[in-house]
Amino acid sequence: MSKRAIALRVNGERVEALAEERRTLADFLREELELTGTKLGCEHGACGACTVTLDGVAVRSCLLLAVQAEGREVETIEGVGGEDGGLDRVQRALMEHHGLQCGFCTPGYVMSIRAFLAETPNPTDAEIRDAMTGNLCRCTGYQGIFEAIRSLAGEARS
Ligand code: FES
Ligand code: FES
Repeated sequence: MSKRAIALRVNGERVEALAEERRTLADFLREELELTGTKLGCEHGACGACTVTLDGVAVRSCLLLAVQAEGREVETIEGVGGEDGGLDRVQRALMEHHGLQCGFCTPGYVMSIRAFLAETPNPTDAEIRDAMTGNLCRCTGYQGIFEAIRSLAGEARS
């Protein structure tokens, strides 16, 4: 399979690499860059486990090719953290509201929630529920995740 040289930024660092033209961004991140925090579930756009941000927008990295990220800014779960080096506010809220168990879905949720709150910092309950439809979690029953997002919306409201 032919390869193409690509340059992009990943978690704030410039990356130059040879990518197979049909390599997905998810596989590129996990296998070439060893950023295995991005999970693969369905591999066809249904579960959201592979969510990363591309120029700040949440995308499913299993549906994108690595070459499509040329010149773009990618953020993965490895790039997320608090200023003190600990958890960021979304991760902390998920922990405090029991919004995670096995954690397989959690990186995708964190990336989706961060992008959602960046765009909609003070969402209604309906907007939160709508935003949650892009990610699947088999463990928590969604209520904890909803409460976590709601607590952050409440922060913005106050
Ligand atoms: S692995 Fe990409 S959406 Fe499920
Ligand atoms: S915490 Fe297990 S799938 Fe979400």
